[in-house]
Amino acid sequence: MRTQVVIIGGGPAGLLLSQLLQLNGVDNLILERKSREYVMARIRAGVIEEGSAQLLRSAEVGDRMDAEGFVHHGVNISTAGRMFHVDFRDLVGQSVIIYGQTEITKDLYEARDRMGGLIVDEADNVQPHGLESERPYVTYEKDGSEHRVDCDFVAGCDGFHGVSRQCIPGDLLQTFERDYPFGWLGVLSETPPVNDELIYCGHDRGFALCSMRNEMLSRYYLQVPVETELSDWPDGRFWEELQRRIPPEAAERLVTGPSVEKSIAPIRSFVAEPMQFGRLFLAGDAAHIMPPTGAKGLNLAFSDVHYLSSAVIEHYKNGTWEFLDAYTETALRRVWKAIRFSWWMTSMLHVFPENGSFGLRIQHAELDYLSVSAAAQTAMAENYVGLPL
Ligand code: APR
Ligand code: PHB
Repeated sequence: MRTQVVIIGGGPAGLLLSQLLQLNGVDNLILERKSREYVMARIRAGVIEEGSAQLLRSAEVGDRMDAEGFVHHGVNISTAGRMFHVDFRDLVGQSVIIYGQTEITKDLYEARDRMGGLIVDEADNVQPHGLESERPYVTYEKDGSEHRVDCDFVAGCDGFHGVSRQCIPGDLLQTFERDYPFGWLGVLSETPPVNDELIYCGHDRGFALCSMRNEMLSRYYLQVPVETELSDWPDGRFWEELQRRIPPEAAERLVTGPSVEKSIAPIRSFVAEPMQFGRLFLAGDAAHIMPPTGAKGLNLAFSDVHYLSSAVIEHYKNGTWEFLDAYTETALRRVWKAIRFSWWMTSMLHVFPENGSFGLRIQHAELDYLSVSAAAQTAMAENYVGLPL
C-alpha cells in the first residue's frame, strides 16, 4: 500500500493531524496499537486553550465542544484556606473551554469515519524504515500477517511509550527531564462539581485540584507520594483528605460519591530534541511530557500538530521544505515555554519536603505575591490561556 503520510498513534495528536491533512488533500493512514474502545476509555485532561479550540473548529470537529463545553473565564487558587480568583478574561481578554479529552477523541474518530479516514486499529509491531531515504515505509502486523505502507513522511504521534522517538539515533537525540517525587491520584465521580470554576489548592498536606467534566461529573486530584498504591486510597479516605486540603467554603459544599474512575499518574517533565529525523516528525507526548498542573499536555499536542500539518500541506502545495526543516525549532519554542509554565505552577503549588523550610517560605511568598499582583496574575493568565501560536 502507498500513502503520503503514515501517522503512528490514534490519540488526539494523530487523529487531529489526520483530519487536518485529509481536509487539505493530503492522503494519510493512522496505525494505532490499541482497540478503538481502549483509546476512547482513557480519562484525560479537559482544559482547551482558545488556540486549540480554533484549531479543532478549523478541523470541523468543534461543534460539540462549542455546544457542550464550559467556557471558564478564570481559575481559583487557594493557599492556607484563602482562595483568590485569577480572571483571564479581565487580564488578557481570553478564556478556556472545559471539555474532556475523551470527548475530543470521540469527535475526532467520528469525523475520521465520516470522511472515510484510514485507521488501522490493533496494529502490532509498527516499525518505521528508511527514514533517511526519500522512500520511507512502515511495516506492521495485523491478524497474523505483516503489512507494508510506502509513504513520503512518518508522523510519530505514538505518545511517551511509543516506537517513534526510539528511531532517532542515540548520538543525535537529546532528552531533558525532571521526575517529581510525587504522583496525582485522580478520581472521577458522578457528583456536582464543588465550584463553577477550577480550584488549584496549595496546602501543607499536599496539592489538590477540583475540576469537572459536566454538571454531574466531577474530577478531583490529590498529590500523593510516588510509591502510592491505589489500594491505599479507598474512596472514603480520598474524600476525607480532599476536604482537608480544599478551602473551607468548598469543603462545606463538597458532594461525595463512589469513584467511577480512580488512577495515579506519575508527574514528570520531559522533552526530546530534535523533534524530527529525516522523514520522521514527532508530535505530542511522543516528544514531550509535562505535569498536568498547567493543563498543557493536550494543548501542546495540538500546537505541534498545527505546525506539522501546516508544514506538510505547504510542502505538497508549493514543494517547499522550509517549514518542514524548521519544524523542530518552531515547535520547541512553544514547547519549552509550556514546560516552564507547567514547572512553575507545579513548583508553586505542591509540597516538596526536600526543599526544606526555606523552600516552603518561598512558595508561600510566590502565592502571596500572585494573590495581590495584577502583573503576576497577568503573566499566569497569558500562559494558562495559551501563548500565541
Ligand atoms: N504503535 C502504534 N500506536 C502506538 C504505539 C505503537 N508502537 N505506541 C503507542 N501508540 C498509540 C497509543 O495507543 C495511543 O493511542 O499512540 C497513541 C498516543 O496517544 P497519547 O498517548 O494520548 O498522546 P498524544 O496523541 O500525543 O496526546 C497527548 O494525551 O497523554 C495525554 O496528557 C496527554 O493530553 C495529552 C495527550
Ligand atoms: C482535569 O480536569 O482533568 C484537569 C484540569 C486542569 C488541570 C489538570 C487536569 O490542570
